[in-house]
Amino acid sequence: MRCSRCVLCLLALLTLLALKVYIEWSAGGLGLRGQREARAPPGRAGALPFRPSLPANLSGRLGQPGPPATAYWNRQQLLSGAPAGDCRAWGRAAAAQIPDFASYPEPHRRFLLSAACRDYPWGLSGAGVPGCPDSPAPYLLLAVKSSAGRFGERQAIRETWGGPQPGVRLLFLLGSARGEPGPDLSALLRWESRRHGDLLLWDFLDVPFNRSLKDVLFLRWLARRCPRATFVLRAQDDSFVHVRALLRLLRALPPAAARGLYLGHVFDRASPVRSPKGPYYVPESFYAGPYPAYASGGGYVFAGQLAPWLLRAAERVVPFPIDDVYSGLCFRALGLAPQHHPGFLTNWPSGGEPENPCTHRSLVLVQPRDPQQTIRLWKVLQNLRAPC
Ligand SMILES: *[C@@H]1O[C@H](CO)[C@@H](O)[C@H](O)[C@H]1NC(C)=O
Ligand SMILES: *[C@@H]1O[C@H](CO)[C@@H](O)[C@H](O)[C@H]1NC(C)=O
Repeated sequence: MRCSRCVLCLLALLTLLALKVYIEWSAGGLGLRGQREARAPPGRAGALPFRPSLPANLSGRLGQPGPPATAYWNRQQLLSGAPAGDCRAWGRAAAAQIPDFASYPEPHRRFLLSAACRDYPWGLSGAGVPGCPDSPAPYLLLAVKSSAGRFGERQAIRETWGGPQPGVRLLFLLGSARGEPGPDLSALLRWESRRHGDLLLWDFLDVPFNRSLKDVLFLRWLARRCPRATFVLRAQDDSFVHVRALLRLLRALPPAAARGLYLGHVFDRASPVRSPKGPYYVPESFYAGPYPAYASGGGYVFAGQLAPWLLRAAERVVPFPIDDVYSGLCFRALGLAPQHHPGFLTNWPSGGEPENPCTHRSLVLVQPRDPQQTIRLWKVLQNLRAPC
């Protein structure tokens, strides 16, 4: 008799306890959802263990603590930071202050004259700006730099590594549909955009020295239209990405590393090319010293939540013509160094595909590929079932 009362009491207590736990759990769940909706803007990053920061004086972070340099970029960065106000006036001042500006190659002169101008409109009338799914937000955004005429490269990516997968969103970043002097490809691009909904296109001349402009415009889209993407892969349309391997890598990251992620093939202490013939030539009167470590523009991955921070850094770091170096400088301004990963290859080891398909296991990204090589490599990876 006594004992059965005990059991009854115990049961009642357990029920009450379960009820309490349930109520707290559901309230906690609601609270969590509320918090995620009101995500803190930069500067109020709350309880994140990793905090990017942007000091008032960037000289130390950008590696020039020394006496004022004579090269234009270094001097500007030291004295005043990035341009503010009339962007064309900034270009004219640069032209006037660089003693040998007239002897710069034409792309360099054009770059400097317009480098401070970064407001360009959406470039494809009659086609909407692609959005990004809100719930769930993409886990991985594949942001691939392309240009108007490279239809084959884009299609090969859609048919292979960029094809639909849960949590992954593919986007191509393009400049104007009209080259100089032409042809005008807008009608074709409008069709492509309606068909695939994956083109982000702005109205500026799509030349190599405008690629960092493309990065800035993409970051604006990311910060405004897709702020909850967890990771962003910035690649080229001649890159091949082993998305499955990349997802494995990302999912295995400890949370603290994931929040400040900037990872790829790292060039450590590379120096500017001083021969005027090459595409990466940088005149001595423009930039002095080695580059800070940066991840190759062939493809690197970063945490989506860094987008607003990178935009603020880009407002402070003096423009530089080479896009991956400029991105490296912006990450560096936030206190972030690139991490090297051996699976990101800027060159396939010795021409052609390796005989042994097991070599592909460690591959995350390889560049450059043409559309046919992309399709061939995709097939090899699909058949990679046998144990190695
Ligand atoms: C930043 O600091 C450096 C020395 O570290 C100094 O020479 C420079 O004038 C400072 N720049 C600004 C804009 O205050
Ligand atoms: C970049 O695009 C702008 C806008 O079309 C253009 O004025 C500028 O000359 C371009 N830059 C280069 C280096 O050609």
